[in-house]
Formats: sequence, C-alpha cells, structure tokens
Amino acid sequence: MKKLQDLASFVAAEFQKSYGRPPRWIAAAPGRVNVIGEHTDYNDGFVLPMAIEFYSVMAADRPVDGREVITLRSTLEPEVATIDLSRPVVPGVPKWGNYPRGVVAGFLARGIQPGGLEVLLHSTVPLGSGLSSSAALEVCTATLLEAVTGSTLDPVEKALLCQKAEHDFAGVPCGIMDQFISALGREGHLLLLDCRTRKTEIVPLQDPSVALLIINTNVKHELSGGEYAERRAQCEEAARNLGVKSLRDVNVEQLEKGKSKMRDLVYRRARHVIGEISRTVSAVGSVRQSDWPAVGRLMYASHVALRDDYEVSCPELDAVVKIAESIGEQGGVYGCRMTGGGFGGCCVALVKASSVDGITKKIASDYKVRTGITATIFSSRPAAGATVLRG
Ligand code: GLA
Repeated sequence: MKKLQDLASFVAAEFQKSYGRPPRWIAAAPGRVNVIGEHTDYNDGFVLPMAIEFYSVMAADRPVDGREVITLRSTLEPEVATIDLSRPVVPGVPKWGNYPRGVVAGFLARGIQPGGLEVLLHSTVPLGSGLSSSAALEVCTATLLEAVTGSTLDPVEKALLCQKAEHDFAGVPCGIMDQFISALGREGHLLLLDCRTRKTEIVPLQDPSVALLIINTNVKHELSGGEYAERRAQCEEAARNLGVKSLRDVNVEQLEKGKSKMRDLVYRRARHVIGEISRTVSAVGSVRQSDWPAVGRLMYASHVALRDDYEVSCPELDAVVKIAESIGEQGGVYGCRMTGGGFGGCCVALVKASSVDGITKKIASDYKVRTGITATIFSSRPAAGATVLRG
C-alpha cells in the first residue's frame, strides 16, 4: 500500500506540473500475473491470476474552461490524447488513447456522462510484457470515471465494459481474465475465476516461505499480431467438431474419442486447453494445502503444453523455464512457466522466499549467456484490485 501512496503523490505532482493545480481525483488499477490457467478464459475455463504491485494511475480534475473534452497526458508518451464528448467516440490516435476511449464509450453507452476532464496518466506496469498493462489502463479509467460520476458499476459489469473496450478499440479479442483481476484482486490472495459463470473465489497466498518471481524476458509480445485470434478460432473449431458449446464441456477421454473428427493441430490446441483447465483446478487444491512442489509440477506441465501443443511460447521463455528447472527444488525453484498471452513477455516462477536473491542472480546471468538479453526480474505479493485514492 505504501508503494501505491507514494505513486499517488508522484502522479499528483506530475498533474500539478502539467495543469498548474492539484488533482481532484486519483484512481489506480494493478497489472496481473497469471499463476496458472493460460488460454482457458475464452474457453469458459478456470484461471488463477493475482494482481501485482505495479499500477496504472490517473489523476484528474474538471477543465478550468468547462469544455466537454477529455484531455489525457501520459508521463510515458509524448503525444496528448483527446476525447471530444460532443462527437461519437471512435478509435483514433495516439494509439494508447484507445484504451481510455473505449472505456469512455462504454460509460456513454450506459447513459453515464463523464463530462470534460483533464487527466494525467502514469504506469509502472511494464508495457507489452504480458502483465496486462492495457487492462490496468482500462480498469483505471473505469475506476476514475466511477469516482468522477458517482456511478459505481457492478464489478463484473465493469470488467466486461473494459474487455469490450479492448475488443472494439484495441482490436484484441481477449478473454475476461485481465480486466477481472485488475478490478477484483484481493491483497494476499490469488483469484480463482470461473470464466463461464464469472463466479470468483479468493485463494490465500500468504505462506511467508514462498514467493512468486516474475521474469521479464524483455522480448515484447504483441497480441494484435493475429496469433491470439487464430488460437481462439482453433478452439472454437475443436468445440464445433466435438459438438459442444466450448472446450469447458469436454474431458480428456471425450477429446481422445473425438480425435478423428478434427485436424491434428486443432486436437493439440484442445488438448492444451482441456489439460490446463484441470491443472488449474488441481493447483487451487495444492495452493490451499501449501503443497508447493505439486503446484510447481503443474506449472511446468502448463509450460510444456503451451510450448508444444498450443505453440505460444518462444525460445526466450523456454530458456527461462530450462534455467529454472536446472536450479531445481534443491536450489529453491518449485516451478516455472510462461504467463499471459505468450510470444514473449514474462515467466512466473514459484520459489522458496529464502532463495529469491540467489535464484534471481542465477536466472539473470544464465539468461544473458543463453540469449544475449538482459532480463528484468522482480517479485510481487498479491495486491488489491482497482481503488480510488482521492475523491
Ligand atoms: C491475454 C488475454 C487474456 C488471456 C491470456 C491468455 O492476456 O488478454 O484474456 O486469454 O492472454 O491466458
């Protein structure tokens, strides 16, 4: 929390520099790391993410001149984004402005008028790293607009509004996980989300003997590249071939029986998803029992399926997992896997808290030797979801 308060002070000072007065509202929303349950959300499956202590933060005030325009400045981008509320809100430039634009459009579609605003944005969520910087920005915008308008949305509706912003304004047909965890994260807890019923269950992760390490390969991932949409379509094809609504409705035996009804590629995609849904459910049981070696094995199995069946890993992510495996449980690593959409971005590792420093050094140096790239490695406790810090 201290970190967040410091961040709020920084953003308030930046707002003052840009607009010449203190902000009236400040809102924040976290990024996330997914512990397990990858590429299952758009298959009606389970996911087990946690919010991380990295945030998108917005400070705002009404414009002095009363204009019906939302002006957004960012500490990270040189261009100013504007949203003219007297016209239909559509995607535009700069590109980063499309996330807030999409959220504003969602509020307007519900008949909630945000009114003119001057906004200063700052984010500590690494961009394009599979830690949901875009969902954090969307949920932060929605949380700010709730504070500004006094209209609090149901959290599920809020997450869906933000997901629609990503679909319609950023062109990424994402699932529901990222916006959900950014809106609903709970300090000290993982969030088990049933993406079919949208019911959530909090799972405590408070054992001081373990930590989650996030290893950023610093290879950028870009989900609008088409592979994500292609995977989604292949899953839908598998479900159609099996005569079910989604892959959630199928177990391994049913998949094996139906194998001849589908292309081999589609079969492998489905095998990952079906396996991953059951791994996620098992992982929750193991986390609840503090059976860390079991959680670690499930994480490794998840990575293998993502690499070989789902084909969304990349050599750098595989290198991190190999290094983690070579350190092994004796060295303090229980498990490791790629996290998020894939094709770059981050790995998540479950490790012994007492070994964090040694593991960090070893992964950093071996990764540099294998790839020539410098990784960024940090740990985070499970953080709280979106919050209004002022206003
Ligand atoms: C991205 C999407 C999520 C989810 C993951 C893969 O982060 O935004 O909805 O599908 O990829 O698990």
